[in-house]
Amino acid sequence: MSTSPVSPAAAQPVPLCLPGGGSLRGSVRVPGDKSISHRALLFGAIAEGPTRIEGLLPAEDPLSTAACLRAMGVEISPIRAGEPVLVQGVGLDGLAEPDDVLDCGNSGTTMRLLLGLLAGRHGRHFVLSGDGSLRRRPMRRVADPLTAMGAEIHGRRNGELAPLAVQGQALHGAVVRTPVASAQVKSALLLAALTAEGPATVIEPAHSRDHSERMLRAFGADLTVSGADGTEVTVRPGAVLRGRQVVVPGDISSAAFWLVAGALTPGADLRVENVGLNPSRTGVLEVLERMGASIEVENPREVAGEPVGDLRVRHGPLRPFMIEAAQVPRLVDEIPVLAVAACAAAGVSRIRGAEELRVKETDRLTVMARQLTAMGARLEEHPDGLTIEGGAPLRGAEVDSETDHRVAMSLAVASLVARGETRLHGAAAAAVSYPDFWRDLERLRA
Ligand code: S3P
Repeated sequence: MSTSPVSPAAAQPVPLCLPGGGSLRGSVRVPGDKSISHRALLFGAIAEGPTRIEGLLPAEDPLSTAACLRAMGVEISPIRAGEPVLVQGVGLDGLAEPDDVLDCGNSGTTMRLLLGLLAGRHGRHFVLSGDGSLRRRPMRRVADPLTAMGAEIHGRRNGELAPLAVQGQALHGAVVRTPVASAQVKSALLLAALTAEGPATVIEPAHSRDHSERMLRAFGADLTVSGADGTEVTVRPGAVLRGRQVVVPGDISSAAFWLVAGALTPGADLRVENVGLNPSRTGVLEVLERMGASIEVENPREVAGEPVGDLRVRHGPLRPFMIEAAQVPRLVDEIPVLAVAACAAAGVSRIRGAEELRVKETDRLTVMARQLTAMGARLEEHPDGLTIEGGAPLRGAEVDSETDHRVAMSLAVASLVARGETRLHGAAAAAVSYPDFWRDLERLRA
């Protein structure tokens, strides 16, 4: 920012220069929730009649979902920041066979949810692919349980990797236990169940985010949640989904960068507005509170079936934290930025049971360990987590997002507590989930 203007540089393949130190003040409205945005597009597409979406995230990942749906004949109005998006639903079985590969870009949610949606489109053929990162991510966690419902899905490495070919089949109901607590896997199965020949129950090892359950019900699906902590979800086919209005709250996973930045940087006082506070996503708030950060929820409200509030965060001394397996699903996307928070806490923080991070857009344990080590952090990598010894000041360094949006933004937060300039390669990756991140950073520092 001092040596190169933030926004233009973020769009270019040159490193972004982030001066060390500084503090953040003011208000920021984070863009729409990525998970909810994908679902609003997908469920709107298979509903009867129009769906109007307010607050849809205009970022690369939801654009991938929209492009795939358009390629199957769904009319979706242009996606522009601040404008509502209209989806003309084609009904549960109305998706047309596309005449080319469906490009899911960098988006695991697009590919996995589409697998569930397309598996039951009898007689139609689909091929799904994506960028280099997505083509390395595991897909049998979705394909195997779908196969148990009668799906036919083929892919590289014995069905594990995209490109994936789906030959639509008539699916049958089943009781399926998923191997990991994953909202993407669960949602794929719920979508497949909508047109199966009998009811399907998905049983997760732990509760993952429940945006699909909430929104499918709002669209009219016959869906019940049971089991300890809502880990069993049953869909009975036959209900007609009806297009509706969806209001997308701000993404707590994007808010997390400002919450950690506010907690870490001396003198900070930030208000993050319109943040989705679904309890299946708020683990990051609990960790920051345990660290001693001051976070107040203002104006709590409910918007279109999701709890929402404004968050005020102020700097204070921070204690180290421990994250264990049971908490991971509720903060899985926030672990990279919490690793940065740990660097500034006085003492040793431990993250365990987080092996899922190894199969995200990058192996986020290795990548964060590598990049934070370059900034002078003292940390140890484990198969399922990190041990981070906080307290030693970070130093500005040459770092790289390694194409991962959450790594890019986490390293920007780290630069705020580093001595000297950080040169960030691959800053443009932030556009996957937060296209205006660099502009907001520049404004809040001013
Ligand atoms: C998502 C679920 C999470 C999360 C991802 C989005 C979703 O993945 O990491 O960014 O929209 O369902 P898993 O459910 O696979 O852990």
